[in-house]
Amino acid sequence: MRRSMAESMTQHSSYIGELLAAGRVVLTTASTEETEEVGRLMGCAVSGPLVLTLAGDLGSGKTCFARGLARGLGVDEAYPVTSPTYTIVNEYPGRLPLFHLDLYRLGGGDELEEIGYRDMQQQGGVIVVEWPERSDDAELGTDLVITMNEEGPDERVITMRCLHPDVDLKEQF
Ligand SMILES: Nc1ncnc2c1ncn2[C@@H]1O[C@H](COP(=O)(O)OP(=O)(O)O)[C@@H](O)[C@H]1O
Ligand SMILES: [Mg+2]
Repeated sequence: MRRSMAESMTQHSSYIGELLAAGRVVLTTASTEETEEVGRLMGCAVSGPLVLTLAGDLGSGKTCFARGLARGLGVDEAYPVTSPTYTIVNEYPGRLPLFHLDLYRLGGGDELEEIGYRDMQQQGGVIVVEWPERSDDAELGTDLVITMNEEGPDERVITMRCLHPDVDLKEQF
């Protein structure tokens, strides 16, 4: 991750909103900690309801990013942020409620109802979804699409894209 970007993201909470409004953001991280830090900085910046999806192969760092996001949202270290593969959804108390989902075991988008997705949306918090391919962006109400790619043992390329170019994300970040 380029240091200048980390600094800017910390200093200006609206920076992510501005970057995303300008288009796609691509970051390369060189360690687990750096990916967590990118997630954390995003979590620090969020100030309103947000749905973000994390696509990428097993081991690409999705849960790692979600863990950082939780810390940035103020979820206490006492709450271990682990993969919701078996629970499908884990909820954490932060500045905003955080719902961490893993849809890997979901049969299809219509099962979103069964897991209480609409109720989660109504709580006005942050929803972060691993394996969003089991549903789709319209069903999920996705705001931000994040893709993680493994480029080497410790190198990951993180691409972020906002699905509402017409929306001023600065209100959310
Ligand atoms: N730059 C990096 N970013 C994220 N994880 C990394 C990185 N380098 C190595 N790793 C390792 O890759 C694995 C990612 O696991 P995890 O976050 O559970 O992936 P996923 O949820 O995509 O299956 C962890 O073992 C982590 O330590
Ligand atoms: Mg995972």
